[in-house]
Amino acid sequence: MENNCIAIVLAAGEGKRMKSPLPKTVHRLAGKALCEWVVDSAEQATGVKPVLVIGADTGKFTAIFSDRVFYAVQQKPLGSGHAVLAAKEHLTGDGYAIIIAGDMPLIRARTLKALADRAVAEKLAVCILSTVSENPSGYGRILRNNNGVARIVEDKDATDEQKKIQEINLSVYCFHIPPLLKALYSLNNENAQKEYYLTDCIEYLSKEGHSIETVALQDGSEGLGVNDRVQLADAAKLLRKRINNQIMLSGATLIDPDNTYIDANVTVGRDAVIYPNVTLEGLTVIKENAVIYPGSRICDSTIGRGTTVQNSVILQSKIGDNTTIGPYAYLRPKSVIGNGCRVGDFVEIKNARLKDGAKVSHLSYIGDGEIGEKSNIGCGVVFVNYDGKKKSDTVIGKNAFIGCNVNLVAPVTVGDGAYVAAGSTVTSDVEPDSLCVARCRQRTISGWAKRRREE
Ligand code: UD1
Ligand code: CA
Repeated sequence: MENNCIAIVLAAGEGKRMKSPLPKTVHRLAGKALCEWVVDSAEQATGVKPVLVIGADTGKFTAIFSDRVFYAVQQKPLGSGHAVLAAKEHLTGDGYAIIIAGDMPLIRARTLKALADRAVAEKLAVCILSTVSENPSGYGRILRNNNGVARIVEDKDATDEQKKIQEINLSVYCFHIPPLLKALYSLNNENAQKEYYLTDCIEYLSKEGHSIETVALQDGSEGLGVNDRVQLADAAKLLRKRINNQIMLSGATLIDPDNTYIDANVTVGRDAVIYPNVTLEGLTVIKENAVIYPGSRICDSTIGRGTTVQNSVILQSKIGDNTTIGPYAYLRPKSVIGNGCRVGDFVEIKNARLKDGAKVSHLSYIGDGEIGEKSNIGCGVVFVNYDGKKKSDTVIGKNAFIGCNVNLVAPVTVGDGAYVAAGSTVTSDVEPDSLCVARCRQRTISGWAKRRREE
């Protein structure tokens, strides 16, 4: 089939029932936009770049797909048939086109491929994905005569008798391009919705004596279309179940998969353990034997082998092996934490590197800078990185010891093996192996408090 079949994904409808300024199919679920799920399945099925038909609001789509798709713009949503015509420059030659609505995120590549394989093998004018539904209301019904499929009638145009038909159109087709084009040019909008219906092509092709077949959908969930936020949540739940099942079958443990939120492009290594109420987003990678405890959100980050994360937020950062993070740590973008490190409770790190074995165990702000190998940062240390105008770096060497409640006023460096006494405010560089004390000497006035009470 390769190179003989393209896919056209229709995503120019307005999606009024979403009650949103965003086009319906850019709403996100399980880590991808609605139409991105469809585009990905379509691309996998055909092996070639799909065509995406979009409305005038093009920027929302180019931000998602860049040059992964060909764009066709339908200036006004005048119906699904009109939408396909917007892509006519791609409808050339003697090949086939899979046409699919962009609001069916659960559709699988293998389903599209089976549909196209049948159309090509039997030289059909069109092969329609259908199903028999107990509740067909809202869907186009498939009408048959002695020769097979005769027509699709839209719900809004159907007679009471036709509305009883349970065989429905799912809005997924594979057309032979030359008869499709003829049929598209024959369309009119004389119907209840005053739209150019793609589904009217079926009656035209049947009357012209073309062969039309249906393929029955195997897994009913793939037919789920998203028109409102309730269906968006239903579809998201089913997609998460697929993602989570795949992760478990590849050897990771999810303690409670119904309450674990993992995006489509996350990878989780063998024997990693993910607790409930964890959200893994974007291009996150969890390596083997890592343990992610409840209440963590990890986005576009890598968590090393055997590392544990508890109740923490980690954004665009990289954590090494056998490190412990949290509870309640906040790692902001561009934090790079080495192997065997410790980042404890209420520690915020931003754009900073912790070398192997470094420890920041409690209540500290590490913004812009570096902590050398095996250095220990006491409780309540602040990297004073901002002077009100610009950000500067703090660089601490290896095997250094920073006492509690120290302010390191950047730009400043602390050499290898140096000590900084608790409560110091450090404003100039500290040489290696020295002791820095930058605070007032203590003064104790005997009997002062007693005298005050007696006054
Ligand atoms: C469509 C089918 C119906 C089928 C149902 C399955 C038609 C006329 N009817 O109905 O037989 O049972 O899907 O869910 O096709 N679109 C555009 N431009 C437009 C109009 C629509 O791009 O001008 C796109 C939409 O973004 C959507 C798809 O086409 O992805 C289907 O349109 P929609 O309005 O949702 O059709 P339904 O009424 O659901
Ligand atoms: Ca629809």
